[in-house]
Amino acid sequence: MTVLRAVRLRKEYGRDAGLVRAVDEVDLEVRPGETVAIVGPSGCGKSTLLHLLGGLERPTGGEVHLADRRLDRMSETELSRMRRKALGFVFQAFHLVDELTARENVELPALLAGVPPRTARRRASALLERVGLADRATHLPAALSGGQRQRVAVARALIGRPLVVLADEPTGNLDSAATAAVLRLFGSLRAEGQTLVIVTHDSRTAATADRVITMRDGVLAGETRLNGGGGGLGTLAGLEG
Ligand SMILES: Nc1ncnc2c1ncn2[C@@H]1O[C@H](COP(=O)(O)OP(=O)(O)OP(=O)(O)O)[C@@H](O)[C@H]1O
Ligand SMILES: [Mg+2]
Repeated sequence: MTVLRAVRLRKEYGRDAGLVRAVDEVDLEVRPGETVAIVGPSGCGKSTLLHLLGGLERPTGGEVHLADRRLDRMSETELSRMRRKALGFVFQAFHLVDELTARENVELPALLAGVPPRTARRRASALLERVGLADRATHLPAALSGGQRQRVAVARALIGRPLVVLADEPTGNLDSAATAAVLRLFGSLRAEGQTLVIVTHDSRTAATADRVITMRDGVLAGETRLNGGGGGLGTLAGLEG
């Protein structure tokens, strides 16, 4: 059973001598409730892969299956509907709307998806509570710390009750205390069965996953199971090679 699946997925940029195979025939299966971390050197194609998996970019070739739907075959309209309904995104730079309060930021995707305002407000308040920011609901992003902004972004990613949350360097801009808070949050989502795909440079972040996949030059170069998924002890031992 898979919730998200890539088959021979490819993304090329440029042409001729300038051709870059950012993602080169990647096969990947993510099971429901799994947390998968994708690690690898800068430029190896992690963000590109994540963007393809989330329908933020179009593949050059191959397939992306989300549950029983083919993202790679959808029209732009269908795709944006699917992104709002079934996917949640978390980015390194948070991407909150500066003019909106924390709660308004969390509500926004639900309102865009046609959820009645009162329901959206109720869900947003519950999610802010969930991420430990009930008392910051009416703050603007500028009045929040980095870790608080990222927790608002996680709440926003969850408001559509997504099948999969995709995160690109979610702790990349955070200090150690804020990283720990965001990791605790991911840990509790994982415990609740939320499917998560996290691209990260940070070994602590990768260590929260069930499975760590190493990427190199556009291909998946190795995989390590952690956290009881095959005798791992929640460490990155065995990741090298
Ligand atoms: N829009 C683009 N046009 C041309 N080349 C691109 C584009 N986006 C990415 N690339 C190239 O594709 C390759 C993979 O980039 P990508 O951003 O996916 O790497 P990454 O693993 O996320 O790196 P980092 O860890 O630095 O974020 C790189 O060689 C990059 O230069
Ligand atoms: Mg990247």
